[in-house]
Amino acid sequence: MKIIKTKKELQAEIEQLKSAKKTIGFVPTMGALHAGHIALVHRCVSDNDCCVVSVFVNPTQFNNPDDLKKYPRDLKKDVSLLEAAGVCLVFAPEADEMYSAEEINTCFDFDFGGLDKVMEGKFRPGHFNGVVQVVSKLFSLVKPDRAYFGEKDFQQLAIIHRMTELMDFPVRIVDCSIVREPSGLAMSSRNERLTDEQRKKAAKISEVLFESRNFVSAKSPKELAAWVVDKINAVDGLNVEYYDIVDAVNLTGIEEWNDNCIGCIAVFCGDVRLIDNIRY
Ligand code: PAF
Repeated sequence: MKIIKTKKELQAEIEQLKSAKKTIGFVPTMGALHAGHIALVHRCVSDNDCCVVSVFVNPTQFNNPDDLKKYPRDLKKDVSLLEAAGVCLVFAPEADEMYSAEEINTCFDFDFGGLDKVMEGKFRPGHFNGVVQVVSKLFSLVKPDRAYFGEKDFQQLAIIHRMTELMDFPVRIVDCSIVREPSGLAMSSRNERLTDEQRKKAAKISEVLFESRNFVSAKSPKELAAWVVDKINAVDGLNVEYYDIVDAVNLTGIEEWNDNCIGCIAVFCGDVRLIDNIRY
């Protein structure tokens, strides 16, 4: 497995793979890898001749400087997990390798047709512009045949699909299911920041989401959303930022149930912000 720090080296490796007609799979990450990431990597390794993983904590997608500062980082551990999983290239650049000083301060403006105006987009202004800025740059460098994203970040996934279509990237986006801890808590790098007690409380998030499925015929989407918020807020130390039940295609709120609905949630557990979602 090669660890690459510069765009130039990466481009040279990709050119070699392309001229040898190897298929390239890509898993973009911000490191602090957990079993959820490794599930994406396993799928990527089995589908492609070469699996490329990027490890880059992208500063332009953090609207909260404190969150960026506290984001867990452990490249040594990440590298050993990736090596064991059969990855062929790891791209781990520094921020000044990825962006010029001008780029890092430029607001990347993109028309997501409203997908970025709700939920995460509403509470983390500029977040998706930063995601698209880095993912489009990585797609241009890695030129993957397939790229793998987790459904935990459901809105990000919808936006990546849209970006890929609008920018005509010749890549297949592969949606991968949420991986959960035995307690049901959705795997996230941010879970590392939870104390044992907080981790137990955080498990209540998925528990309530799964329980809410039992009330679909008894409650409207709005009533059910309010029920979920009340149940989770009743747990000391949990504070719901939003819970929206939306159409899974255009992410707009729904008045009536349809057969493609999803509930997306963001909850603060202490100062750790967690997200999850559930299909109805
Ligand atoms: O989902 C993530 O970890 C990040 O948003 C991504 C896609 C790696 C871009 O920085």
